[in-house]
Amino acid sequence: MIYLDSNATTQVHPEVLEAMMPFLTEQCYNPSSGYRAAKVVRNALGLAHEQVAALINAKPEEIVMTGCGTESNNSVIASAVNQSKGKKRFITSAIEHSAVLRYGEALVKSSGVEVEQVGVCASGRLLLEDFEKSLNKGDGVLASMMWANNETGVIQPIAEAVALAHEHGVAFHSDAIQAVGKTPVDVRATGVDFLSISGHKFHAPKGVGAIYVREGMRFEPLLRGGGQEGGRRSGTENVASIVGLGKAAEIMKQRLDTDGHAGVAELRDHLEKRLLTELDGVCVNGSLDYRTANTSHVSFDGCEAAGLLILLDEYGVQCSAGSACMTGKQQPSHVQTAMGISPQQAKSSLRISFSIFNTMEECDAAVDAVKKAVHKLRSVQGGPSVGPVQVYTSH
Ligand SMILES: Cc1ncc(COP(=O)(O)O)c(C=O)c1O
Repeated sequence: MIYLDSNATTQVHPEVLEAMMPFLTEQCYNPSSGYRAAKVVRNALGLAHEQVAALINAKPEEIVMTGCGTESNNSVIASAVNQSKGKKRFITSAIEHSAVLRYGEALVKSSGVEVEQVGVCASGRLLLEDFEKSLNKGDGVLASMMWANNETGVIQPIAEAVALAHEHGVAFHSDAIQAVGKTPVDVRATGVDFLSISGHKFHAPKGVGAIYVREGMRFEPLLRGGGQEGGRRSGTENVASIVGLGKAAEIMKQRLDTDGHAGVAELRDHLEKRLLTELDGVCVNGSLDYRTANTSHVSFDGCEAAGLLILLDEYGVQCSAGSACMTGKQQPSHVQTAMGISPQQAKSSLRISFSIFNTMEECDAAVDAVKKAVHKLRSVQGGPSVGPVQVYTSH
């Protein structure tokens, strides 16, 4: 199989697995234990904090390990809302992941917080003027804007948005789960106050994440108990996975520093070039100038994405329609709707996402498979009319 769904999840890097193994076997100690042997485990956790911090230009003590990206997002929002006195507006964007949007909806019910979703332009980037209008209302508790979108890979104007939020005295969180490890993320250069990370998007295991909490920012923990992670996230640490997250961060930093993920971008560009020249009725959606190196969001006139996925699976290629959380909605994703992509085009689009493990041979074989699938569907469906399709939300 050719796996081109790396925005959904990635394979654990062999060096990551190797780094984790001792902590799943002989180094099984609880890091809080008093005997000398447990110090090895505590040191390993310390190193992981350093490695994750280095990837985003933070300090190790600004990193809080969590159980997943969803927990990171929920924790930051909960912390800001719980601390808000009088202020009531949670400002976010219309293209966020459900781990932000659903939590915002819950807040409306539980805390009477108003949630405002700022729109994006046709290329999928945040409308900064509209963001400023929301900030001008003067009652913001937190602004939360994703760094890169999970469906399109489009990178947001984070530094500009942070500057605006800070001018208005509003703290800024970024869900950088699809950006960290794939594109340079610098918390100091942008000035973000909080940032979410998830390991399984860049070759660490599933079920481990992190929050960057800028030094000096108040953070109220979501989980309280034994006081692990400096009292900011209680619960016995998932040592092996945290070690894996650290190792993955080290590997991805080295790759980003060396070539900025040029190899992955080359695959994406080659795929798009071939699709655009060898097929009619193909459109690459979202900004071409601001996007992660690994993601391509492409529509194929006259084809249902669901049909394409079935055929591609048969031909040995795995990718997504929109995104793959399988909520079974028969409608375009909220991201595509916010970008103003027509329902027809949205329903005919695929998300193809590469990783460092893909090769040019796989890329060429995938293009051949997509061409075959598109020709087959067009011959059956006979042109651009598109029927109902399952477009999944939201990895
Ligand atoms: C942008 C974004 N935010 C949050 C999440 C949730 O992360 P996790 O799966 O680690 O809970 C995902 C995962 O699909 C994502 O793509």
